[in-house]
Amino acid sequence: MRCRLKILSICIIASSFFSCKDTNTQNKKEVTNYPNQDSQLALLMREMTNDMEIIKSQILNREKLSSSVKIEKVYTDIPTDSYVRDNNWFIPMTDQYIFTVNDLLNNPVNTKDQYNTIVQSCINCHNQVCQGPIKRIKKLRIKK
Ligand code: HEC
Repeated sequence: MRCRLKILSICIIASSFFSCKDTNTQNKKEVTNYPNQDSQLALLMREMTNDMEIIKSQILNREKLSSSVKIEKVYTDIPTDSYVRDNNWFIPMTDQYIFTVNDLLNNPVNTKDQYNTIVQSCINCHNQVCQGPIKRIKKLRIKK
């Protein structure tokens, strides 16, 4: 029984890589295969990506840093594939991401490094769950 569960979860993890990659290839056939691609979590992720672009320009222009995205919703927003949270690392990865954002916003000392640490925390989770957007996420980095 335990073993079957293990195999099942390996399949589920494997298919989560798959579906996440598909979401990102702009292919007509795949779009029809994944009619639910605008999940709450996917929409939130797009907001987070835009927000990172804004924060990046605030840093580069030496403006006051601000964010309007409710990042705590990563814990609760419904993903396309409900099993992405069925593991031991989704919550700690979310904790880490939120910590890095709050660290920059509340205690901006070395803003470029702090910002790039946020980008790394995005990538850390995506390495586990959803590798498709990583290339795009890497473009958010501030080059030094
Ligand atoms: C705790 C894990 C986690 C963290 C942290 C995380 N993501 Fe995601 N991300 C996901 C999951 C899971 C999905 C798939 C969402 C879905 O399809 O429902 C996703 C999807 C995306 C997508 C694709 C959205 C779409 O249009 O389908 C982008 C872009 C993205 N994330 C960018 C980011 C950025 C930028 C950050 C950091 C600011 C980030 N992510 C942090 C887990 C995470």
